[in-house]
Amino acid sequence: MGRSGELDPGWEVAELIGAEHVATLPAAEPWLVDRFAEHGADRPVAAARIVAVLGGRGGAGASILAGGLAVTAARTRLRTLLVDADPLGGGLDLVLGWEQLDGLRWPSLTDADGRVDAPALVRALPRRGDLVVLSWDRGDLLALPAPAMAATLDAARRGRDFVAVDLPRQLDDAAVIALQAADRAYLVVPAELRAIAAASRVAATAALHCADLSVIVRGPAPGRLRADEVARALGLPLAGTLRPEPAIVRGLERGEAPAATGRGPLAALCQRIVAELTGAPTAGAA
Ligand SMILES: Nc1ncnc2c1ncn2[C@@H]1O[C@H](COP(=O)(O)OP(=O)(O)OP(=O)(O)O)[C@@H](O)[C@H]1O
Ligand SMILES: [Mg+2]
Repeated sequence: MGRSGELDPGWEVAELIGAEHVATLPAAEPWLVDRFAEHGADRPVAAARIVAVLGGRGGAGASILAGGLAVTAARTRLRTLLVDADPLGGGLDLVLGWEQLDGLRWPSLTDADGRVDAPALVRALPRRGDLVVLSWDRGDLLALPAPAMAATLDAARRGRDFVAVDLPRQLDDAAVIALQAADRAYLVVPAELRAIAAASRVAATAALHCADLSVIVRGPAPGRLRADEVARALGLPLAGTLRPEPAIVRGLERGEAPAATGRGPLAALCQRIVAELTGAPTAGAA
């Protein structure tokens, strides 16, 4: 683009830089205004990427993966929300070591109708840096109203960059809403025969609600089952593998969040997934 009299853009220069158009101002002003209008009019409002994580059987490692994804996204400076959608999971704030942190939990966020005050949501949640978490308190509310999940994800879609949802294996209405909202869902399956049998049930239901469902296989494999065999048995694409990582378990006991150091197999897998979904450059080892 040039201004007549001041700069002759010259076709050679345009060709050199691979320009599609040469617009000379002020003559080309109306054309330029039209182009801006075209781009501004129906551009979608920036929307968070949403991932859902489920376990193929109890203790598969789903909550740790969900926590790791959220921690990794926040380390990449993405405004992140981690949602605990498993009423019987014991509280994801515990997985992060955040149980003492002030802020709202599900029970105080849902009124009788299950409505959520969306704008206040993110401000009210426990937070550290770019990560906020919506989890359970230690009281007795053991069901999640579906409208509360819908309103939460709606608010998050507009106010966050990345959302990870930890789902129960027995899908309730709130979990179905989260799966339907998710861009991608991961089923974590230990590399064991019985886990595959259990996971096939979970996969069959989850696949009804999310078209992009894939498997993450967690070792060890006592019967030497390979990750691709596990995925093939479930009829789903293989999204990744996780080696056993004793440091994660030790860290959990000390209140350290999974993938917080940016090192190890879990952190590496989470970095790849976050980068694939958001295009954000990954923040590696600290
Ligand atoms: N990557 C890992 N390396 C080593 N141990 C792991 C890993 N991921 C999970 N674990 C172990 O498995 C346990 C269960 O993990 P997690 O709570 O994430 O599973 P889950 O699928 O969410 O289980 P639940 O059925 O209770 O929801 C952890 O407490 C930890 O001991
Ligand atoms: Mg769990």
